[in-house]
Amino acid sequence: MMNLLAPSILAADFSRLGEQIQTAAQAGADYIHIDVMDGMFVPSISFGMPLISSIRKVTDKKFDVHLMVEEPGRYVEEFARCGADMITVHAEACRHLDRVLHQIHDQGLKAAVAINPATPVSMLECVLDEVDMVLIMTVNPGFGGQKFIESTLCKIRQLRNMAQARGKTLDIQVDGGINEETLPRVLEAGANVIVAGSAVFKGDIVANVRKLKNVMETVTCGH
Ligand code: DX5
Ligand code: ZN
Repeated sequence: MMNLLAPSILAADFSRLGEQIQTAAQAGADYIHIDVMDGMFVPSISFGMPLISSIRKVTDKKFDVHLMVEEPGRYVEEFARCGADMITVHAEACRHLDRVLHQIHDQGLKAAVAINPATPVSMLECVLDEVDMVLIMTVNPGFGGQKFIESTLCKIRQLRNMAQARGKTLDIQVDGGINEETLPRVLEAGANVIVAGSAVFKGDIVANVRKLKNVMETVTCGH
C-alpha cells in the first residue's frame, strides 16, 4: 500500500495560501488536507466553500476535505461542487452515517470516516465495507499544533487487523501531532495516509516535506 503525505493547510500562512500550497505540492505532497470546522462539532471555526473554490485553481492535487461539522450530510453536494475529491465525516457527527457515506459516493467522491481519540475502533465494524479510508484522529480535533495522543497507536493496529481479517486494502489516515518523532511510530502501527500541519507549514516547507517523505519511504508498515 502506498504511503501518502497530506499537508493540512490549517497551519499555512493564509495571506500566502495559494503560493504555500504550490510549494508543498511541488515538494512532493500527495493530497491537500483541508480542515473545515463549524464551531459546533469542534470549538473553533476555520473556513468553508469559498476558500476551497479559490484554491482549487492553484493545484491539481487531490483535495482531502476533513469535515469537523455537525451533520455534514447537509453540505456534501456543495463540497463536491467546490472541488473536493474525497470527503471525511466524523462518525460522532452523523446520526445516519451509512446514508452520508452513500451521499458522498453518489457524488463520485471517495468517502472516509473519522473517529475521535475516545471513540473505539469497534464503532467502524458496520461501515468498514462502505469506506475508502478511515481517519484515526491522533489528537482531539479542533486545533492545529496539539500533542499526539499515545493511546491512538493501539487503535491504528486494531483497525489494520480488522481490515486484514476482512481481506480489505484500507487506507488508514492519521491526523494531529504528526512530526518526525511520531511519524515512524504511526507507520509501523499500520497508518499509510499522513496528515501534517505544523510539521509541513512551520519553517521551510520544501525541507519539511522532503524530511517527512523520506521517513515515509524508509519505514515500512509493520503489517
Ligand atoms: C485537527 C486538524 C488537523 C490539524 C493537524 O483538528 O484536523 O488536520 O490541522 O495539525 P498538526 O499537524 O499541527 O497537529
Ligand atoms: Zn484534519
